[in-house]
Amino acid sequence: MKITKICCIGAGYVGGPTMAVIAQKCPDIQVTVVDLNEKRIADWNDPNPENIPIYEPGLSEIVAEARGRNLFFSTDVDKAIDEAEMIFISVNTPTKTYGKGKGMAADLKYIELCARQIARVAKQNKIVVEKSTLPVRTAEAIKSILDNTGNGVQFQILSNPEFLAEGTAVADLLSPDRILIGGDITEEGQEAINALVNVYANWVDKERILTTNVWSSELSKLTANAFLAQRISSINAMSELCEKTGADVNEVARAIGMDSRIGPKFLKASVGFGGSCFQKDILNLVYIAKSYGLNEVADYWEQVIIMNDHQKRRFSNKIVQTLYNTVADKKIAFLGWAFKKDTNDTRESAAIYVADDLINEQAKISVYDPKVSRAKMQADLNYLETRSKEENNDFLYTFNNAYEACKGAHAVAVLTEWDEFRTYDWQKIYDSMHKPAFIFDGRNILDSKHLESIGFVYNGIGS
Ligand code: NAD
Ligand code: UDX
Repeated sequence: MKITKICCIGAGYVGGPTMAVIAQKCPDIQVTVVDLNEKRIADWNDPNPENIPIYEPGLSEIVAEARGRNLFFSTDVDKAIDEAEMIFISVNTPTKTYGKGKGMAADLKYIELCARQIARVAKQNKIVVEKSTLPVRTAEAIKSILDNTGNGVQFQILSNPEFLAEGTAVADLLSPDRILIGGDITEEGQEAINALVNVYANWVDKERILTTNVWSSELSKLTANAFLAQRISSINAMSELCEKTGADVNEVARAIGMDSRIGPKFLKASVGFGGSCFQKDILNLVYIAKSYGLNEVADYWEQVIIMNDHQKRRFSNKIVQTLYNTVADKKIAFLGWAFKKDTNDTRESAAIYVADDLINEQAKISVYDPKVSRAKMQADLNYLETRSKEENNDFLYTFNNAYEACKGAHAVAVLTEWDEFRTYDWQKIYDSMHKPAFIFDGRNILDSKHLESIGFVYNGIGS
């Protein structure tokens, strides 16, 4: 079966970039990305590709090339479902904030809505692809909804989790380590798998396209994120021990990373991992394990989150302690608010939690981030519901320029590893700050020797 029309429900950080790359690499396939969020779709359709709603290096160029040719963004979900042979579900699956599994389980209400809409609209057989990250065995629920509420047409459900990381989404999509496709072992299931394999084969080597059963595919996504996050919590745990013992976590990471069994990636100690995926997916894994009565399995993975929370809190505590146990009315300059560099995404960013802790101590937080707006920072703080919106507003100062943000500060805290922070005129920043001028490098990206020679009191992670 040759696919000629694809619909993707969800024009977010995954749906947008993934479909843009499919459209670029498969000019014969018409790709329509739909979303209920009218503003988001309008932004994707902005005549100036620089204004698309997601910042990812290289993405605006791809959108400029494919949009209007075979890439379309629309709010007409029914029409796109009706026309497509293959429908990707790429909607958000956040942690539940209510009811059973609150704070742990994935909230599947958006997934169910998509399934019901597909069932209602579809008049021909469809392949439905789970692109969102889902708990293992979700395909069963989707299938049941489709088969019981549909118009008697046949549905094949595939699991095709996305492994892109934000900030490198385009590069990851163009040359993925692997593509994973799970499907039924029946003949129809295999046909559906092949149809999707052939889409990716337009630019990905077939050896890198892995096919499995649906459950393995669904569970592999949660497993991959759990393993990646576990490495960060492991090195962060060591960073605390390094600080007590005189070892340097960067040196330890280098030493262990050269062991080919361990490998060098994801060993960067930090103020704690953020992003929309790691915490949510591990909590979900913990919840699934508990629901099968696997308490040891659940406890094992939960430690990754406990360690990460500890690392964020440890960072804010260290700032307060170092600043003579009081930050009240002191200006603390934050360099970076995004959860990592090269993205405007702030979901679960460590910066939010560190700011919240410091505002509890009545510090004035003065932030510069090259890609994040004040409105987003305010929304992030308000979402925690620690205090009123007005109070958050009073404690948050934002600047379009790092030098202004740091002027008159008692301390600078690096929360995101944006490259530009390395090349600043640190002497100029030092001259504009209160003395002693403290730096808390939550990403270990600055040159500590150089900063100390200027006169800064430098605090990295794990040294
Ligand atoms: P997102 O919040 O950026 O985008 C989801 C979009 O879906 C939103 O724009 C929302 O309006 C839309 N939506 C929700 N319900 C809808 C419906 N019924 N009809 C139409 N549109 C609807 O989320 P995201 O970051 O793109 O993540 C999507 C999924 O991909 C999640 O399951 C996530 O775990 C997974 N994932 C994310 C990443 C990442 O780096 N962000 C990486 C891999 C996998
Ligand atoms: C992650 C997975 O990497 C990706 O495969 C999945 O599809 C989605 O979730 P993402 O969250 O976008 O991607 O970025 P990632 O590069 O994994 O970074 C996550 C967080 O960990 C960031 O806050 C980052 O700064 C932090 N991190 C990463 C570290 O603190 N140390 C490291 O060594 C690596």
